[in-house]
Amino acid sequence: MIKIIHLTFVLLAFSSFIGRVLLPLTHPNLLNQKAFKIAPHVIDTLLLLSGITLVFQGSWLSGEYGWLIAKIIALLGYIGLGGVLVMRSEGTTRWLAFAGAIGLFIYIGIVAVTKNPWFFL
Ligand code: HEM
Repeated sequence: MIKIIHLTFVLLAFSSFIGRVLLPLTHPNLLNQKAFKIAPHVIDTLLLLSGITLVFQGSWLSGEYGWLIAKIIALLGYIGLGGVLVMRSEGTTRWLAFAGAIGLFIYIGIVAVTKNPWFFL
């Protein structure tokens, strides 16, 4: 059940990130609405809380948790690129950060499924 909630927030977080990057280009006025400012933070917090709940529910800390550490490090990179650099830069830097953030998001998802941080080797 919690996993379904977690996966729902994974999809919501991904859509809200893409929305925050594309909406200013297509509907700049929408971003001034309160709901569009608050929603991403609510979604990201619930994604994190559902992930932490899964860690305890699955007793992941007493087993093999290397994949979890990789996930959290990649999450920090995703926050840095997606939450900070994309929102505060312009031009090529912004789009490179955008591509990097999406790459890290996909990496996090694959690591979650394979439980192997080096799945690409
Ligand atoms: C961008 C953020 C995240 C993405 C894209 C993501 C993605 C996923 C996916 C796709 C699964 C399903 C794996 C499966 O069913 O095989 C999953 C499960 C899980 N995630 Fe996340 N997650 C994210 C954030 C987090 C965070 C922040 C934590 C913990 C602090 C976390 C902890 C877990 C745990 C413990 C599971 C359960 C693994 C299992 O029982 O097989 N996730 N995540």
